[in-house]
Amino acid sequence: MRTITLINGDGIGPEISDAVVKIIDASGLKIDWEIQTAGADVIEKEGTPLPKRVIDSVKKNKIALKAPVTTPIGKGFRSVNVQLRKDLDLYANLRPCKNLPNVKTRFENVDLVVVRENTEDLYAGIERMADCDTAESIKIITRNASERICKFAFDYAVKNGRNEVCVVTKANIMKMSDGLFLESYRKIAENYPQIQKREILVDNLCMQLVQDPTKFDVLVLPNLYGDIVSDLTAGLIGGLGVAQGANIGENCAVFEPVHGSAPDIKGQNKANPTALLLSAVEMLRYIGENFHAEKIEKALFKTLSQNIKTVDLGGSASTSEFTGKIIENLK
Ligand code: NAI
Repeated sequence: MRTITLINGDGIGPEISDAVVKIIDASGLKIDWEIQTAGADVIEKEGTPLPKRVIDSVKKNKIALKAPVTTPIGKGFRSVNVQLRKDLDLYANLRPCKNLPNVKTRFENVDLVVVRENTEDLYAGIERMADCDTAESIKIITRNASERICKFAFDYAVKNGRNEVCVVTKANIMKMSDGLFLESYRKIAENYPQIQKREILVDNLCMQLVQDPTKFDVLVLPNLYGDIVSDLTAGLIGGLGVAQGANIGENCAVFEPVHGSAPDIKGQNKANPTALLLSAVEMLRYIGENFHAEKIEKALFKTLSQNIKTVDLGGSASTSEFTGKIIENLK
């Protein structure tokens, strides 16, 4: 039996983790879940929001499924999510974005993939007060990390039959940092004559995405633009409740939804487990459990097609009703 680390998060994390574990179990796939807690709730007992045992568990098992963990805004501890990606060198954040059956949105045939650099940029969190009225934040972009993520995006495109990799920057203004990212893209792109190239500024991208997202295929972006654009693309397919993701490194991978811990609906049996479930489906494909991945995805699609949806998608099903129906549809 395969052992997988499960970071069940906080906010809606435990509710949606519970739903996903039940669905995977009902599919007939036996997984030994190594449950690891992290975040504000463990600080008092262990002195840190991200204890070493969590990192050790992912390193040992090489795979984790992760629900969201709350980060305090403006003060308090550093993001557990950012720290985890850094400690495990999960340099590629993959966020596929595709229409789901019977989830009505403004556009049909959206099928794009956001590849976000995951380790540096303004997300490095290097900030200081230069004086009491001036805050500074340093944007770090390295050649190594930029070439590595661009190579990941092109390899992903080749492996998954994609036609184009488009690089997204603001290199007209940040000529050095975003300029280096763009230069790295151009260098790596030369090795992939079979893939079409495209360069776009992030503001123009946002405008074009909301006008016609079907014009885009694979997007590769530095960390902060990737963060923002992938919430935008989540909105194109039905919102954060359905947007899946994965953080991938050389040695391990952590699969997690795009959304956060949604404290506004915590404990109300209202959260949509789809984003975490689709992240888990990709995780199963990643470890070669294709049969169970297809089976679960089919049951999810059938449930949506039967118009059983959670509130965020305009339905009235609770988390547990939605989960129960998916389990029924596995049969
Ligand atoms: P959020 O993604 O938690 O919520 C934004 C809105 O989307 C809320 O109205 C929420 O109810 C809704 N929503 C999100 N997921 C949903 C789901 N599965 N089903 C139904 N509705 C859903 O973003 P917010 O409020 O900005 O962040 C809350 C906390 O989560 C913050 O502390 C933030 O730092 C953290 N966060 C953690 C992430 C992670 O663990 N990877 C990623 C993003 C945010």
